[in-house]
Amino acid sequence: MQQSERDHARQMAAFDQNSQNFRSLNQLMWQIPLISMSLTGGLWFGVSKAETSPFLQIGLLGLACAGNLMLMIVIHRIRYIMERYLLWFRTFNASGFVVADGHSYWTKSQIVRRSFQIMFLLAAMTSVGLMVPTAREAKWFQTAADRTTAFYDRSAEDLADRYETIDFAKAHPELATLLASGPKRAILDVGAGTGRDAAAMAALGHSVTAAEPSDRMRGVAQAMHPGAAIEWMDTSLPKLDAARMADRKFDLILVSAVWMHIHPSQRRAALERLSQLLAPGGRVYLTLRLGAPDKDRVIYGVTADELASLAPQTGLAYRALGEAPDLLGRPEVRWKYVVLSSAAPTTASSPLVH
Ligand SMILES: C[S@@+](CC[C@H](N)C(=O)[O-])C[C@H]1O[C@@H](n2cnc3c(N)ncnc32)[C@H](O)[C@@H]1O
Repeated sequence: MQQSERDHARQMAAFDQNSQNFRSLNQLMWQIPLISMSLTGGLWFGVSKAETSPFLQIGLLGLACAGNLMLMIVIHRIRYIMERYLLWFRTFNASGFVVADGHSYWTKSQIVRRSFQIMFLLAAMTSVGLMVPTAREAKWFQTAADRTTAFYDRSAEDLADRYETIDFAKAHPELATLLASGPKRAILDVGAGTGRDAAAMAALGHSVTAAEPSDRMRGVAQAMHPGAAIEWMDTSLPKLDAARMADRKFDLILVSAVWMHIHPSQRRAALERLSQLLAPGGRVYLTLRLGAPDKDRVIYGVTADELASLAPQTGLAYRALGEAPDLLGRPEVRWKYVVLSSAAPTTASSPLVH
């Protein structure tokens, strides 16, 4: 056999081989959408059956997302190799090669590959989109403040039975003495809970606003003190940013059994907000829970020293009133009573000012 015949035979063998390879690649490319459909469909079906395990659901959705993104890469690579074969065929037999470069967006080369990739991307994005509500439902994005409020929502009725056994005068004797006489004051009860204190202060003729972030607590409070002239607001520390709170000033702010729920890093901001809300000469009456932190109820450690050093930084003077055991009878808990006064001169003398 002559050299030219040998070359021709080799070229024909290469042509046969490349044609076969190209056909295989083409078949493979068309199988990829089927792989994507089976993968996505199977995993989404798994998600619908794994209702009790959000962790598994999110894992399956993550897998569907990752799988589709990878198939986007795989099809890209396969189509790239096919393109190289097409170039080879074109060079091999330019006159016999069917050129289909396309003349518009829809007839352009690679439109099939692009369409598949868009489909895979949509499947991946839908999977991610489904992960968000699943995680939200599983309360993965719950902040510590949300968990505190959820705790009070869950336990509102039980806690109400306990909180309401304590009389306002017993819970806050200095405050009860102060408010029993003298001028009528504008009072804000922050974290008012079951409304026990707010209702007692309103009954003494004071103008009382109660801030309480737990819907359930507010509901219970309103049911327990139906006639009380209390303005309820759904707002919380550190911001206390209810629209109706914006320009208000209060002579007295009660923060009873709430400070331990404020994260230490937010306590300065909380004090700044309380200071802002005080009328000149106003007072914050605050109780500190001295006892071990409690993760379940999102209770952080509290010390009088911490508050005593933060208060002056926000223009408030700190004064300790005293300490008492827990009125609900928990031996591990004690309470410290504190008054924070705005720097402005006071107009009325009171037992809270020593
Ligand atoms: C232990 S209870 C005290 C209720 C009431 N002040 C008392 O002394 O009986 C704590 C209350 O504070 C509310 N609370 C929790 N975190 C708060 C925050 N960051 N700002 C305002 N209130 C909050 C809770 O919803 C709950 O009603």
